[in-house]
Amino acid sequence: MTHPTDAQLVQQAIEARTHSYAPYSQFNVGAALLTKDGRVYCGANIENAAFGPTNCAERTAFFTAVYAGEREFSAIAIAGGKAGALPKDAPICAPCGVCRQVMAEFCTPDFRILLARGDGTWEETTLAALLPLSFTPNDLK
Ligand code: THU
Repeated sequence: MTHPTDAQLVQQAIEARTHSYAPYSQFNVGAALLTKDGRVYCGANIENAAFGPTNCAERTAFFTAVYAGEREFSAIAIAGGKAGALPKDAPICAPCGVCRQVMAEFCTPDFRILLARGDGTWEETTLAALLPLSFTPNDLK
């Protein structure tokens, strides 16, 4: 399978953002999750009137992929910002703490996280940088 480039993964996150259901925050987020064998699973944030049940874009992507049987991931692109087109100079959207913990369940510390801007550029970081000293399945062994 041909693996998408980072630039293509970022574009998929920007497209996924258009699927966001965010009537309360009007903050739209899209995510594109890459498996180690090159498949991409997308997600968007889905809010709820009771607020608590809201699901972030990253978790929508992870849960869709895991449901499909995927367990090994190499990267995720995230595109988030206030409703409307994502500005090219807007602040990048970093994953929340809960989503970082979900990443730690399935991903190694070198898992790459690409934080997209509206012009298709991105800032790259890793799970190790965003969630040091994490609690993982290994701790339960
Ligand atoms: N949100 C995400 O989907 N991903 C993030 O990385 C940060 C926050 C969503 C949750 C909520 O629907 C909205 O953005 C505002 O917090």
